[in-house]
Amino acid sequence: MRPPSYKPVVDEFAAAIRRGELTPGTRLPTHRDLARERHIALATATRVYAELAALGLVVGERGRGTFVRDQSGFAGLTASRDLPVPRIADLSFAQPPADEPPDHLRRALRDLSTSGDLASLTRQQPPGGRRHERAAVATHLLDRGIDTAPANVVLTCGAQHALDTALRATTRPGDVLAADALTYPGLKLLAAAHHLELAPVPVTATGPDLDALDRLCRTRRVRAVYTIPTLHNPLGWVLDRATRERLVGLAREHDLLIVEDGTYAFLDPAAPSPVHALAPERTCYVSSLSKNLAGGLRFGFAVVPDGLVPAFTTSLRSSTWGVAGLVSALATRWLADGTVARLEQRLRADARARQAIARTALAGLDTAAHPASCFTWLRLAPHLRADRVAAALARVGVLVSTGDAFATDRHPPQALRLALTGPAMDDLAPVLARLRETLDAFPP
Ligand SMILES: Cc1ncc(COP(=O)(O)O)c(C=O)c1O
Repeated sequence: MRPPSYKPVVDEFAAAIRRGELTPGTRLPTHRDLARERHIALATATRVYAELAALGLVVGERGRGTFVRDQSGFAGLTASRDLPVPRIADLSFAQPPADEPPDHLRRALRDLSTSGDLASLTRQQPPGGRRHERAAVATHLLDRGIDTAPANVVLTCGAQHALDTALRATTRPGDVLAADALTYPGLKLLAAAHHLELAPVPVTATGPDLDALDRLCRTRRVRAVYTIPTLHNPLGWVLDRATRERLVGLAREHDLLIVEDGTYAFLDPAAPSPVHALAPERTCYVSSLSKNLAGGLRFGFAVVPDGLVPAFTTSLRSSTWGVAGLVSALATRWLADGTVARLEQRLRADARARQAIARTALAGLDTAAHPASCFTWLRLAPHLRADRVAAALARVGVLVSTGDAFATDRHPPQALRLALTGPAMDDLAPVLARLRETLDAFPP
C-alpha cells in the first residue's frame, strides 16, 4: 500500500527541523504555497501542517502563518534529544503551560518600541533595580501578603539567582543551612557552590518536623533555615499558621535567618500569610515570575531586611549586577497592567484541573499532592527503583524527576516527582496512563 501523500512531506519537514536546518521561528510556506510547490491538494498541505503540529515541531498562529517551533526546552538539555519517540511528555520541570500564544509579549514589545527614553534600558541599571521597578514589585507583593518598602526589594534574574544572592550575602563557607530532607534541588546546588553544610530537617506529611529543627539548633550553630511554606516542592504541603509561627519562634530563639521561597505561593491565595509577614526583620523572601509568567524571562526578586540591603547589593555586583533593563521593563509592565494577575488566575484553575486528572489517573498509587499544586509526588512500590523506572519512562517518551534530586539526607526515597504542567491538558491523562502501564510492566 502506498503511504498517504502527506507522509513524505511531513517526514521531510520533520527531518529538516530535527537536524536544525529549519531554525526555530522560521516561517513556513502558506498552505496554498505548499500545495502549489509540492503538487499536492490544499487539504493535503493542511494535513502536513496538522501532523507536524501534532509532533510538536511547528506552531500555527492565527492570521500570521505556520512557524518552526523551538525544540530546545529544558528537557532538550537532558535526555530527550535522541529518544526514539516523536513527542516527549516532559513531567520533569514545572513551567507555565504553553497553550496560549503570548499576545502580551507581542503587545508589550510593540508598546515598548514606541515608549520614551528607550535608551535608558541600554544603560547600566542600578544593582537591585530601578526605583519604580522595585516599587512595581512591592505593589505586586501586597497581594501576596507582603507589605514592604521598594527599598527592601532587590531585583534578580529569577528566584534561583535571588537564593544565590541571599546565600552569598548572608553566609560563609562552612555555615550550616537547615533545609527539609526533601527540598528544591536548586538549593542543593547552591549549598554545594557556597560550601555550606546542608542539615536535613525530617519531613512529615504536613510539614517539616520542627522538634527536630529545634534539636538541631541546640546541638549545632545553624545560620539559616530554607523553607517553602506554601506549595512545597516536591511534597505540595501548605504550612498552617501555627507551624509558621513556631518556625518564626525557633528562628528568633536560635537567631536563624529565614530564607522563604514563595515561588509557587501564587497558586494558593488562601494560604496563611507568608513567614516574611511574621518576621520581616529576619526573613529573606524570594520569588520570581518564572512559574506564573515565563521562566525564560529570568525575572525574580528578594525582599530583604533593612540591614541586609547593602550586602545584597554587593552580592549582586559580584554576579550578574542585576536584571537586564529590557527584561525588568517588560516584567514590571506586566505586573502593573494586570497581565500577571490575569495569568495567575488562569494558572490556578489550570493547576487544579491537572491535579484532578492526576488524582483519577493515579488512583490507588501512593501519592502526595495538594489540590492547588502543579506537582504530584509518587512513592514507588517497594520492588521498584526510581532510576530504573525513570529510564523505562524515558524510553516511552515520558520524562520525570527522581527522588534523589530532592533529598538532602543520605536516604533518597524511591519516588518520582511529576510536574503536571508539561503536557497539554488533553494529553495529561494519556501520558499518566502510559506512566502507569510502564510501572505495571515491571515484574513484582
Ligand atoms: C521551589 C523553587 N524555587 C526556586 C525555583 C527557581 O525559579 P527561577 O526559575 O525563577 O530561578 C524553582 C524552580 O523550579 C523552584 O521550584
